[in-house]
Amino acid sequence: MGNITFTMIKPYAVEKQCIGKILESINAHGFEIVAMKMVKLTKEQAASFYAIHKGRPFYDDLVDFMSSGPIVAAILKKENAVEAYRTLIGATDPAKAAEGTIRAMCGTDIQRNAVHGSDSDENAVREAAFFFSMLERFD
Ligand code: RTP
Ligand code: MG
Repeated sequence: MGNITFTMIKPYAVEKQCIGKILESINAHGFEIVAMKMVKLTKEQAASFYAIHKGRPFYDDLVDFMSSGPIVAAILKKENAVEAYRTLIGATDPAKAAEGTIRAMCGTDIQRNAVHGSDSDENAVREAAFFFSMLERFD
């Protein structure tokens, strides 16, 4: 079980001024922020990041949405980080996310669901390396 996970605050949550609320919750739940940056992905970069979803019905919309505005990317450190963070963010659809979770608080709909969270240790390592060089991370 790994001790890092990767997250992005998605475009609509950034636009809604939810960055502070989300970071507050992340820290309050014992995650240490060990890398962070605000960037706008090109369509090609979003397509590459989400290549694992290629062929799924929501893929093209997801790529368009994730490249539509700035996002905040971060690496979070905590024991059992992937599972702990998936619990904190809640279900993919904010309408089904448990009360108090980040998606319940800041999500709008299944696409504009506030944040991304890695789904495995392997993907956490891959996704963290996609965004951050060794000089930009402190895990
Ligand atoms: P994420 O990767 O963003 O943490 O979300 P997740 O694991 O909970 O969900 P996943 O199945 O990996 O889907 C990635 C993102 O695609 C969008 N989506 N839209 N319209 C739809 O039915 C649909 N299904 C998924 C969501 O933004 C989801 O977070
Ligand atoms: Mg996922």
